[in-house]
Amino acid sequence: MKILGISFGGKNGANDSMCKEALMGASEQGAEIKFVHILDWDIKNCTGCVACSRSLTMGKGNVCAIKDDLEELLELILEADGIFISTPIFEKGATGLFHTLNDRLGPRADKGINMFAMKLAEEGHGKPIDPAWIKDKVVSFLGIGGSDWSTRVQTDTGMLALPWAWKIIDNKCYSWSKNIIMEDEKVAAVHQMGADLANAAKDMENAQYKGEKGMCPHCHCRNFYHIPNTNKAICCLCGIEGEMILNDGKLEFVFPESQLEHAHDTMSGKFIHAQDIQENEMKNMENRKTDKYKDAVKRYQSFIEPVMPSGR
Ligand SMILES: Cc1cc2nc3c(=O)[nH]c(=O)nc-3n(C[C@H](O)[C@H](O)[C@H](O)COP(=O)(O)O)c2cc1C
Repeated sequence: MKILGISFGGKNGANDSMCKEALMGASEQGAEIKFVHILDWDIKNCTGCVACSRSLTMGKGNVCAIKDDLEELLELILEADGIFISTPIFEKGATGLFHTLNDRLGPRADKGINMFAMKLAEEGHGKPIDPAWIKDKVVSFLGIGGSDWSTRVQTDTGMLALPWAWKIIDNKCYSWSKNIIMEDEKVAAVHQMGADLANAAKDMENAQYKGEKGMCPHCHCRNFYHIPNTNKAICCLCGIEGEMILNDGKLEFVFPESQLEHAHDTMSGKFIHAQDIQENEMKNMENRKTDKYKDAVKRYQSFIEPVMPSGR
């Protein structure tokens, strides 16, 4: 069983150290471990060209137009049974590079879209897709902050698990923890996270979330999008729509069971989303053929040229 640790922190900083601590815990449970310090890797920003989702839905395989180190990193991600990710908290959330990785993999790693592409290939209408893209996997996240600005990080990290439909085993956040290597209790808890992850990878079907309970009973997220002047709220991670109610003086998020069908992290929800996107893409492509669309593009293009850096 293979566990991959990815740290988004500075070289030999708190995140590298805690990622390695978790890998020590995983290794004690028999895991074969690998460690990536992602700042060593050239991972470019997504340009939004949608080549990935377009080629998957058109049977042209799982590809990305950008040439950098992502393909090699993907080999490590795809072969792993479990992934441990540690990220510094930047501006209350995960780092920019974390978001970049999420953007590069969001549509391309989507289990629903990959399953659709596999079906096309089976029916003889497309290139084969490596089954490793839809393999079950477990993941744990750790966010480490240098202050108490940390209220978005677990929602950001949890987002990485969503497209792949990876099972989250833990998602912790430690504030005021730049010197976490001096804090024995936290170090022991991170060690345990690694052990829990490895044990979860041994029996994925029965693996359970081991972290603290959150506000959303489905995905444990604590961030909500509130609809003004109502008690309606939408979970910022799994997208379930429900209501905030007061129960014995405590705020609770409740939702109808039917919402699970639409959740971003259930396979039914993923298929609904993939179908919605496909329908909208068809409409977009039709729109682009119209004179109205072409005229609007020309109007904005000719209005002003972008300022370029000097020398280019
Ligand atoms: C650009 C930047 C933004 C940061 N923003 C936050 C923040 O919003 N909240 C927080 O708790 N710490 C913040 N920090 C502190 C980092 O989280 C802290 O330095 C990091 O955990 C150190 O990780 P490392 O030792 O693995 O590099 C920020 C640091 C930088 C460089």
